[in-house]
Amino acid sequence: MSPVVSSASLADALKQTALDVNAELDRLLPVAEGPESRVQEAMRYSTLDGGKRLRPFLVMQSASLFNVAPSAAIRVACAIEMIHCYSLIHDDLPCMDDDDLRRGRPTCHRQFDEETALLAGDALQTRAFEVLAAAPTHPDPAVRCELVLDLAHAAGAAGMVGGQMVDLRAREFEMDVPAITRLQQMKTGRLIGFSCEAGAVLGKAPAQLRQALRNYAHDLGLAFQIADDLLDVEGDAAEVGKRVGKDADAGKATFVSLLGIDRARAQADMLADQAARHLDVFGEKADLLRATARFVVDRRN
Ligand code: IPE
Ligand code: IPE
Ligand code: MG
Ligand code: MG
Ligand code: MG
Repeated sequence: MSPVVSSASLADALKQTALDVNAELDRLLPVAEGPESRVQEAMRYSTLDGGKRLRPFLVMQSASLFNVAPSAAIRVACAIEMIHCYSLIHDDLPCMDDDDLRRGRPTCHRQFDEETALLAGDALQTRAFEVLAAAPTHPDPAVRCELVLDLAHAAGAAGMVGGQMVDLRAREFEMDVPAITRLQQMKTGRLIGFSCEAGAVLGKAPAQLRQALRNYAHDLGLAFQIADDLLDVEGDAAEVGKRVGKDADAGKATFVSLLGIDRARAQADMLADQAARHLDVFGEKADLLRATARFVVDRRN
């Protein structure tokens, strides 16, 4: 099914969210001052201006389905972006993927140094939870607590961190399709899942609607990571804003290494269509989220 919203309207909406998120992140991140200013500078360097802001967009869109105040949703959007940026800073470190380029600029440890990059990642992570737990995020403390719990599960050893562990050690395991699916679901899917469900949590949505968003996120997250793996093979570093060809060099297990380019692309396309269908229950209110599923697999960066 082709999305009702044009790719130009989606691009405009993504751009607006990126502007809003930049402004709010600027307010929420500590200003660089005192003898510790280097870590605050590094936090700002790796978080402000740049990236697609896909996870914040998913939060804002899922929140709009339940008429959540944008002033509350934007805080959750910034919290997940802080966690994402922390994960990228650590992912790029020499002990992990050892990358020099991120979002078209030197990676955090190249711009600063390894110890600063490590600490900036740590502090972005704690700041994210601080933002979720603070009163302006939601008047009901139980909702704030649920967001904290959900993000902790999504980002920790059962989620992103666990997935990163398997990613780094993939050579030691038999990586068949179910094993790679599980790895990618943990590494990338769980933070995308949090982003899509956050609106339902903020809006105290009925379980059935939250489940629809969870199903959407499941397929979207996998499609997203397959697209990332395809960009690593087919993309252009200047356009992608990060080094390409690095997965094959590092012997990473991906859908592309297992299935080849054509079957991996077919799988991503199938997942994007399937993701969009999970949104039927929301009618046209979910048109931008439907279009996002296509965007995720058609993107060039
Ligand atoms: C890159 O994520 C890391 C993965 C999880 C594959 P994005 O492609 O969302 O990176 P930015 O935020 O746009 O830079
Ligand atoms: C990184 O996956 C996922 C996380 C940061 C959790 P990749 O290692 O494939 O991401 P890129 O390609 O460096 O952005
Ligand atoms: Mg990695
Ligand atoms: Mg990497
Ligand atoms: Mg990658």
